[in-house]
Amino acid sequence: MEKNTLNYIDKNNIPNHIAIIMDGNGRWAKKRFLPRTFGHKAGVETIREIVKECSSLGIKYLTLYAFSTENWKRPKDEVSALMNLLIQYLKKEIKELHENNVIFNTIGDISYLPNAAIEEIQKSKEVTKDNTGLTLTLALNYGSRNDIKNAIVNILKDYKNNRIDIDDVDEEFIRNYLSTKSLPDPDILVRPSGEYRVSNFLLWEIAYSEFWFSDIYWPDFRKENLHKLILDYQSRERRFGGLK
Ligand code: FPP
Repeated sequence: MEKNTLNYIDKNNIPNHIAIIMDGNGRWAKKRFLPRTFGHKAGVETIREIVKECSSLGIKYLTLYAFSTENWKRPKDEVSALMNLLIQYLKKEIKELHENNVIFNTIGDISYLPNAAIEEIQKSKEVTKDNTGLTLTLALNYGSRNDIKNAIVNILKDYKNNRIDIDDVDEEFIRNYLSTKSLPDPDILVRPSGEYRVSNFLLWEIAYSEFWFSDIYWPDFRKENLHKLILDYQSRERRFGGLK
């Protein structure tokens, strides 16, 4: 089964949006007596493989938690290694992403990132903006509570300036103030590495998402694991609070 996982997938029931908390890079490196940054580097290789596979499976949205609002608390060296990996990833990968019809997108406040990273992000968005395939969203300096806080501030500003009315407020209205407004809700939230937490990721958006956990560290995550989670997803019955 492990080898031919692709053959079992129902091509008519592919999840539209997969969100992944990429976790376990540090432990992967530690197990090999390597510095943590080697784990992040290996994690980028997994990103390459998974983006390619999602694209070829016809998945429309892939959202990856790359750097949270809390990750600034890590040692300076690790933060700067992560930023450099992001810059190198975009520099190296954007041509292939574009050739594969991928739209590059981000959520989170990127204004706090180093200028070189902001420039690469903007370039990558510009180059891929007219593509029609997979939307690859990197969550960068993203935290869901912060995103919801920003939405509330902006709603209050618009209210104060008489641009909106209390009667306008419904769930769809709130969604339009979140940085995920252009994305559908994730069908499935994935967290490898044996942790069972949501870690401030897409709190509003995962209200009805399926969850999928695994013990595999992100650098060991292969396309066969992606197939496996899609198969699991296809075996579940989603009721959205209703009855079958
Ligand atoms: C969690 O592993 C992972 C991160 C905080 C960052 C994810 C980043 C990458 C995969 C590479 C850089 C990103 C891009 C977009 C090129 P951890 O360090 O928390 O692992 P641990 O829990 O085992 O310590």
